[in-house]
Amino acid sequence: MKPLWTIALCLVPALASVGCAHREPSSVFEEGTIELRPVTWNTDPVTAGKVTAVADSQDEVAIFGNQGASYFAEGALVGTDTSVLSWRSAAVVPAIDLPDNWLLGVDPFGQVYRLRRSGVLEVVTAQYGLLPNSVREVVAPSSKLTALALKDQIAVCDGSAVHLYDLRARGLAGAAGRLAAFDGAEVIQIDFNKPEGAAIQRLSLSGVIAVAFDVTGELALIAATKDALYVERDGVLLKLWESPAEVRITGLASSGRGVWVAMGKQLSLLAGTRLLHGTIGLTTDTGKIVGSPSGDVWIVGGSQLVRIGERTSFGIDEERWRRGILPMFQRLCRGCHLPGGSSNIDLSTYPQWAARRELMKQRLIEMRPTPMPPREVGTLTATELAAVQRWLQSAR
Ligand code: HEC
Repeated sequence: MKPLWTIALCLVPALASVGCAHREPSSVFEEGTIELRPVTWNTDPVTAGKVTAVADSQDEVAIFGNQGASYFAEGALVGTDTSVLSWRSAAVVPAIDLPDNWLLGVDPFGQVYRLRRSGVLEVVTAQYGLLPNSVREVVAPSSKLTALALKDQIAVCDGSAVHLYDLRARGLAGAAGRLAAFDGAEVIQIDFNKPEGAAIQRLSLSGVIAVAFDVTGELALIAATKDALYVERDGVLLKLWESPAEVRITGLASSGRGVWVAMGKQLSLLAGTRLLHGTIGLTTDTGKIVGSPSGDVWIVGGSQLVRIGERTSFGIDEERWRRGILPMFQRLCRGCHLPGGSSNIDLSTYPQWAARRELMKQRLIEMRPTPMPPREVGTLTATELAAVQRWLQSAR
């Protein structure tokens, strides 16, 4: 039952810190607006009390609050476990045993729990080869990797081994095989895609409060201080935007449509070279924000759990696409189908998919003339396949 882990201690080379040069980003940066609205995602009420962590993927949502942890499938409450009442971090990660996902929550004492699809919690800290009460945060850098922050180390599990890096870091973010975090005046980035092994980069940024990844173009590491946003280019953090004097940046969250930036009662979306300021005025401060692979953003820590998203132009079918398909696109298709990608076919937006329903059915379900994604890239999980089928069948 319990996998036998190889625990490898990875030596962290003492890299010289790279400074923050005063170069300007090469591309033109624009500001604009984005029309936001609260997203109704649930048919049953949230009964987990004050929510402090949330993790979602496709039509699954795991809510962790001071009255327990609840599992929702397609908006319906399946079950609540009231045995643990405080939470620090949550993430959807690759399952250890099967090609599937696990919904994990970490409590303030450092225990890792898996929220089963029945709504029941199960302690899994030991399944990662880790000591009880040692974990602070969890994130999935890719569909094969799980990263867990410990007090002075980062543990990365790839399904067959757990690698320990002697790095003190918090505020974990992960995407497309990369992990970012920060400590003191340093941003740390680990790239797991290199054939020669994980490449660790340290970037100095005094006053860093958050890091995130922008997945909407070529994967970009974004960092924030309370008054500016930075992007990493060639090992240097370049200032992208400075906030007006009265505005304080309070958080970042990676999502399927870019990086959400929380600034008091204001939410903005950074995507590529654009920073779009939300037209929705929030009634309370944003508190902690958590990104969703659907592109939406969760506001947690307040009296009510709020999910906010961009107003859709094409209604319910586009909403279903964002929830069910976009996370899968980011995982399996973005490598070739972003605008300007290697296939020369942009499939990153809803209209591109809506115009290709039949083609998608052929390539993803019937696998003809050849499967998509190409075999060597991977395959859809059962949950992803079901979401694609639901979306294809729900055509107007
Ligand atoms: C390794 C690169 C690669 C990945 C990853 C990939 N594709 Fe493709 N895709 C291509 C190439 C190249 C073509 C054009 C040749 C062809 O049709 O086979 C293509 C064509 C397509 C087409 C036909 C589009 C048209 O208008 O003719 C569809 C649909 C498609 N891909 C869907 C997907 C989906 C969905 C995913 C992710 C689940 C995906 N692809 C992942 C490379 C890729």
